[in-house]
Amino acid sequence: MTDKATLTIGDKSYDLPILKGSTGPDVVDVRKFYGDSDHFTFDPGFTSTASCESKITFIDGDAGILLHRGYPIGQLAEESSFLEVCHLLLNGELPSADEFTKFERNITYHTMLHAQFDTFFQGFRRDAHPMAVMTGAVGALSAFYADSLNVDDPKQREISAHRLIAKMPTIAARAFQYSQGRPFVTPRNELSYSENFLRMCFSVPAEDWVPNPVLTRAMDRIFILHADHEQNASTSTVRLAGSSGAHPFACIAAGIACLWGPSHGGANQEALEMLEEIGTVENIPAFVQGVKDKKYKLMGFGHRVYKNFDPRATVMQKTCYEVLEQLGINDPLLHVAMELEKVALSDPYFIDRKLYPNIDFYSGITLRAMGFPKEMFTVLFALARTVGWISQWKEMFEDPSRKIGRPRQLYTGATQRDYVPVDKRG
Ligand code: SDX
Repeated sequence: MTDKATLTIGDKSYDLPILKGSTGPDVVDVRKFYGDSDHFTFDPGFTSTASCESKITFIDGDAGILLHRGYPIGQLAEESSFLEVCHLLLNGELPSADEFTKFERNITYHTMLHAQFDTFFQGFRRDAHPMAVMTGAVGALSAFYADSLNVDDPKQREISAHRLIAKMPTIAARAFQYSQGRPFVTPRNELSYSENFLRMCFSVPAEDWVPNPVLTRAMDRIFILHADHEQNASTSTVRLAGSSGAHPFACIAAGIACLWGPSHGGANQEALEMLEEIGTVENIPAFVQGVKDKKYKLMGFGHRVYKNFDPRATVMQKTCYEVLEQLGINDPLLHVAMELEKVALSDPYFIDRKLYPNIDFYSGITLRAMGFPKEMFTVLFALARTVGWISQWKEMFEDPSRKIGRPRQLYTGATQRDYVPVDKRG
């Protein structure tokens, strides 16, 4: 059992402690390396760098394993509920029946938004991308909840976490209704989290809204699948923003902005647009050739960590079948997706690069069948990931060794030179 690594530069050697986790790769602790060696380590994409210690989510990319506080994602998706997973991620344990009742009540009674907040949406064009609305709206929440911005107060940190988890569905539903030109729908306290969200999205004043338990269960399971995922780009954004002492509303808004990128949470919209562009099974070979010619990426495929199946994609695919069957939809794009997956998984180009479907490959077909336009797909991802972001923010903030994140660089620009007056420049 090695407890240190030795790095030699020229005639000097540096001993670096090796830190061990409860599972997964050990880490070489380089915190003192620059001070001792006057060298930085260099890892722009964090491909070999652990940015923090965490107890929340563990991923084994080679084995296709995802654990939330030790519980496998497949079991949570089948047995648990999104709110119970929220309690697990935030507090570290599955709640007792009484703890869940209290937690659910706390969340339920924070779902309303300030009446003045609803006018905020009026500032956007109706055709604004809902992710633009979400980024602005969540950042603006701090203007309404000044009583829970003191991040040094554990009670205020807890209230902010509950408010964010509770209000994201209300804000997301408002972003959707606003884009559709429909009136906003007030949350109902007697409904479950996912049922409340679906009602706020799809009910219209002209008739009573009838819940569909299969769709409610599918929505809840989709939220569970998207809840947290270790130190991905948007979570790292939230942690870095939080390391400066920024309050959680600002940090979550930063996470939403990062998630929007097509390489990250924006991939679910891009994956559906890709399937629409392919259109039919007959067009798959030509499209795949374009991927291999590096004209474009296969959206919904590949992952920085998973070099095997994304365990969430497997559950997502099953949910997709359930929803389409429940709604009696025979979506030709599902056949295109399934054939594209089969072709890609048997092609050496993808096999050699360990490219498998990720969570975004089947989510678009499912969400479209449920009635969401593709512009809402990343909004739903952000809604679900809010609990992961705020749990990771809480863990970062409560870490006694917390320091402001401040990476260094390899500088390759101009070395010092003197100013040249404009009449002397070449
Ligand atoms: C999410 O990090 C997380 O946990 C994210 C997430 C979460 O829950 O938070 O899981 C959510 O963001 C899922 C990923 C969604 N993104 C996409 O589906 C977009 C398509 N995927 C790619 O952009 C890519 O796979 C990434 C960004 C996801 C990962 O890229 P990496 O790890 O930086 O891998 P890479 O770019 O170094 O690729 C290695 C090789 C390259 O080929 P070569 O240069 O070796 O010839 O694989 C190729 C890449 O060109 N490659 C792909 C590909 N992904 C990688 N080729 C075609 N299609 C793809 N999708």
